[in-house]
Amino acid sequence: MDDELAGRVAIVTGVASGIGAASASLLEQAGAHVIVADLNAAAAGTAGRFVRHDVASEDSWKALLADVLAREGRLDIMVNNAGISGGAGTVETTTVENWQRVQSVDSEGVFLGCKYAIEGMKKTGPGKAASQGSIVNIASVAGLIGTGGPIAYTAAKGAVRLLSKSVALYCAEKKYGIRCNSVHPGGVDTAIFNPLWQMVGREQGKAVIGAHHPIGRMAESEELGHVVLWLASDRSSFVTGAEIVADGALTSGLMRRALRGPS
Ligand SMILES: NC(=O)c1ccc[n+]([C@@H]2O[C@H](COP(=O)([O-])OP(=O)(O)OC[C@H]3O[C@@H](n4cnc5c(N)ncnc54)[C@H](O)[C@@H]3O)[C@@H](O)[C@H]2O)c1
Repeated sequence: MDDELAGRVAIVTGVASGIGAASASLLEQAGAHVIVADLNAAAAGTAGRFVRHDVASEDSWKALLADVLAREGRLDIMVNNAGISGGAGTVETTTVENWQRVQSVDSEGVFLGCKYAIEGMKKTGPGKAASQGSIVNIASVAGLIGTGGPIAYTAAKGAVRLLSKSVALYCAEKKYGIRCNSVHPGGVDTAIFNPLWQMVGREQGKAVIGAHHPIGRMAESEELGHVVLWLASDRSSFVTGAEIVADGALTSGLMRRALRGPS
C-alpha cells in the first residue's frame, strides 16, 4: 500500500477527529499529499497541511481551492466528510434554524465540495493522467432508511446519497475521469457521540449502540478510513455512483429483526 497514492493531492474535510482524521492519516500513509480542512484548529497536526475551512461557506471553498491549486498545483481526491448531527429533533420539534444549519453543513457542504472538486480536478486533469479523480462523500445509514428523528440529519444524508449519484453520472457522461461515491456508515465511535457518552458513559453507550448492529459492536474510525482509502485509490476504478454501506449489517437485518420481534 505504501506509495500507492504517491503524487496525488487529497483534500479531506472534517478532520479534527473521527472518520476524517483516520481517513487523512491512511491517505497520507498511502503516499498522498493531504490537505486537512476543518473549522476546528484542533485538526492541525493530525495529518498533512491544515487549512481552516467552513464547508458551509462558498467563499471558503473558493479560497481553499485557490490555495491548494497555488501551493500543491493539482487535486486528485476529495473526501467530503465534515458533518454535524444537529440533535435528535423530529418533524414537530425541529426549528427552521436547526434544519437550515444541518442542511448547510451536511448537504450543501457536500454539494459545494463536489462542485469545487470538479473545478479543481478539471483544471489539473487527473483524468488525463494514468489515475482518476475520486470524490468520496460520507453519508450515513440515515441516508438509506428513515428515522423519526433526527429528521434534519436524515434528510441531509439522503440528499448526499442522490447528489453523489448525480455527480457520478454527470462526470461519467462528460468523460471527466472523475468518480463519485457515497459511504454509509452505521455507528462509529467518534466525537459525534460525545453528548450521548456524557449522559450514559462511553462504554455503556457503545455497548447499547453496538447491540443494535447484528455484528455486535460499533465501528472504529479506521474501519471507515479503509473504505475511504479504497474508494480514493484506483483499486476501485470501475466503482462510481455507488453507495458503499459499512454498517455491520445494521440495515440488512431490519426485516429479520422486525419479524423476530424484540429479543
Ligand atoms: N460516527 C458515526 O456513527 C457516523 C455514522 C454515520 C455517518 N457519520 C458521518 O461521518 C462524518 C464524520 O463524522 P464523525 O463521526 O467522524 O464526527 P466528528 O464529530 O468526530 O467529526 C466531524 C468533523 O467535522 C468538522 N466540522 C463540523 N462542521 C464543519 C464545518 N462547517 N466545516 C468544516 N468542518 C466542520 C468538526 O470540526 C469535526 O472535525 C459526518 O459526515 C457524519 O455525519 C458518522
